[in-house]
Amino acid sequence: MSSRTFMKLEIESCSENEAFARVVTAAFVSRLDPTLEEISDIKTAVSEAVTNAIIHAYEDRIGLITISAFLEGNKFTVEVADRGIGIADLEQAREPLYTSKPELERSGMGFTIMENFMDELTVRSAPGEGTVVTMVKEIRSRGGLQES
Ligand SMILES: Nc1ncnc2c1ncn2[C@@H]1O[C@H](COP(=O)(O)OP(=O)(O)O)[C@@H](O)[C@H]1O
Ligand SMILES: [Mg+2]
Repeated sequence: MSSRTFMKLEIESCSENEAFARVVTAAFVSRLDPTLEEISDIKTAVSEAVTNAIIHAYEDRIGLITISAFLEGNKFTVEVADRGIGIADLEQAREPLYTSKPELERSGMGFTIMENFMDELTVRSAPGEGTVVTMVKEIRSRGGLQES
């Protein structure tokens, strides 16, 4: 039987914290003994989600971002949540190349990258309430989380 474990990290939405969130998440998932490529995919996806919360959700102010991560068997789940402006049209937001901030030279590829680098991507959002991005990735190569 595989066991489960959980972590939760709350950070301010300043740009320095993007790297911090990425490194903490990578350290947490490392106990599943992922390959370098799997770690790199997860770091990239988390980085895109956290950057979105910093740049889009809170725009010119500082707010809180909560990163929750779960390990169960070989499955890694991470949730990046903000209480910022929210997304009115999710379908449009998830389209490749769509960005609401072309003036900041955003690529509009954040959601596409998250989708491609992870196995599952779910986005829940409400204008004025915030956004929750949930991503799942199976760590395929190794033994999984062992009962100790
Ligand atoms: N956490 C968020 N809060 C509010 N809006 C968001 C959030 N994440 C994404 N968005 C919206 O979705 C759009 C697409 O996001 P993304 O694919 O990462 O492209 P980019 O960040 O380059 O604009 C953003 O331009 C923004 O309008
Ligand atoms: Mg983005």
